Amino acid sequence: VQATPVKRLCKTHNIITVNGQYPGPTLEVNNGDSLEVKVVNRGQYNVTIHWHGIRQLRTGWADGPEFVTQCPIRPGQSYTYRFTIEGQEGTLWWHAHSSWLRATVYGALIIHPKAGSSYPFTKPKRETPLMLGEWWDANPIDVVREAARTGAAPNISDAYTINGQPGDLYNCSSKDTIIVPLDSGETNLLRVINSALNQELFFTIANHRLTIVAVDASYVKPFTTSVIMIGPGQTTDILITADQPPARYYIAARAYQTAQNAAFDNTTTTAILEYKSAPCPAKKGQSVQPILPPLPAYNDTATVTAFTSSLRSPSKVDVPTDIDENLFITVGLGLNPCPPGSRARDCQGPNGTRFTSSMNNVSFVFPSTFSLLQAHHQGIPGVFTTDFPAVPPVKFDFTGNVSRALWSPVRGTRLYKLKYGSTVQIVLQDTTIVTGENHPIHIHGYDFYILAEGFGNFNPQSDTSKFNLVDPPMRNTVGVPSSGWAVIRFVADNPGVWLMHCHLDVHITWGLAMAFLVENGVGKLQTLEPPPADLPVC
Ligand code: C2O
Repeated sequence: VQATPVKRLCKTHNIITVNGQYPGPTLEVNNGDSLEVKVVNRGQYNVTIHWHGIRQLRTGWADGPEFVTQCPIRPGQSYTYRFTIEGQEGTLWWHAHSSWLRATVYGALIIHPKAGSSYPFTKPKRETPLMLGEWWDANPIDVVREAARTGAAPNISDAYTINGQPGDLYNCSSKDTIIVPLDSGETNLLRVINSALNQELFFTIANHRLTIVAVDASYVKPFTTSVIMIGPGQTTDILITADQPPARYYIAARAYQTAQNAAFDNTTTTAILEYKSAPCPAKKGQSVQPILPPLPAYNDTATVTAFTSSLRSPSKVDVPTDIDENLFITVGLGLNPCPPGSRARDCQGPNGTRFTSSMNNVSFVFPSTFSLLQAHHQGIPGVFTTDFPAVPPVKFDFTGNVSRALWSPVRGTRLYKLKYGSTVQIVLQDTTIVTGENHPIHIHGYDFYILAEGFGNFNPQSDTSKFNLVDPPMRNTVGVPSSGWAVIRFVADNPGVWLMHCHLDVHITWGLAMAFLVENGVGKLQTLEPPPADLPVC
């Protein structure tokens, strides 16, 4: 991990990279492989690396979120992540999990099927990872630090990127636009990853049908669409077939924006799908401009709902039905009054406030002296409590006009304890405090089934009948609909401390997180491994 000069949008910034690459190196491994990744911090910031979507069975020490499963790797220090990929295949990714470093520190993590096993679809001729990112014409760490100082929303990004390149629609970018080659008739597996910091994105390709075959490294029943919505943290595997006249077609992504009255980056990033037999663009009289696809309106929630409700597991799955833990968790924003003694410049949120965010009215505070996992494993008192509420402390009309008295959450490092093997259902309910908004909620160490989604307040009487107990999709990150809800289920079969948070980094910064403490079960295979000797200390 090192500072590297990188030029985008006409200007060079010294960004933090892995091995000097932006995006970082792609890891290609097989299901069943054991990985050993030595991270050496040669940058000036604390860093940790998270392997997003890897289950980390009994190896929570290698999960990576700063102050949750480890203390940060300080400048000059190193840490070796060791873990085994057990029963997972598809598209995942890795990213820094400290401050806003993941703006530039990320890469693809592709898990191929075990030798002798194959995809549940015809093997494509080519495979191309497409990482969607977000670029600031500034140091992202300065951007988040300024927001922390002022209490206001952080500056929006200046560009989106595909594999690190903004594309043709930005200044000083078109000569480096990413080209995805394709031959007439062949099929390409596009592994699309939303590694943007703070923005859900629409993604489409001009004149081509997208066949969706997997999300978050779980296969789905294939279906076709012209556009997808992908939230930060999520991945989508797409088959495309070169069945159009040989030419150049734009691949494009831009914002899906649900927060009301919030500034957002409304630019469009592009790459080019290029048929190898396409007429040479330099030839006289040829049109050089690729075809630009239409994109949904920024607030087109109907298109998002149509897409997410098409996701199904390939066949009947084993959904937990006997529920031991039935949680109802609100997710949303808030505003804190200006703390006594602070100045106006410290409170530049709406009407002289500071932005905050919470789950069940608790704004998560990360510890700073021990990681949560270490505190749990070694029995260190005073680092966290286990009283995270299973239901909102006050019941209100979550998606109505919420009383101002409910806009300021409490702060705390509250965990929720789960017995090994317990079956868990969580209703994730967005609130309209400040504004309703789509939240990509991610759980570390687990995949979960998404049983249903809807708008307004979840109603157990009328909404339970909508649960898909047959073939719900499995993911590690669910986009909770704006002013709506999603219901997920999983079995707590991985002991350790696991963060659950909104994958919009601006929201984690404000406290939209909590953690589960999953106890050990019986015997070695149900027990967290001991910590590695080189685990960083605080
Ligand atoms: Cu990509 Cu805490 O996650």
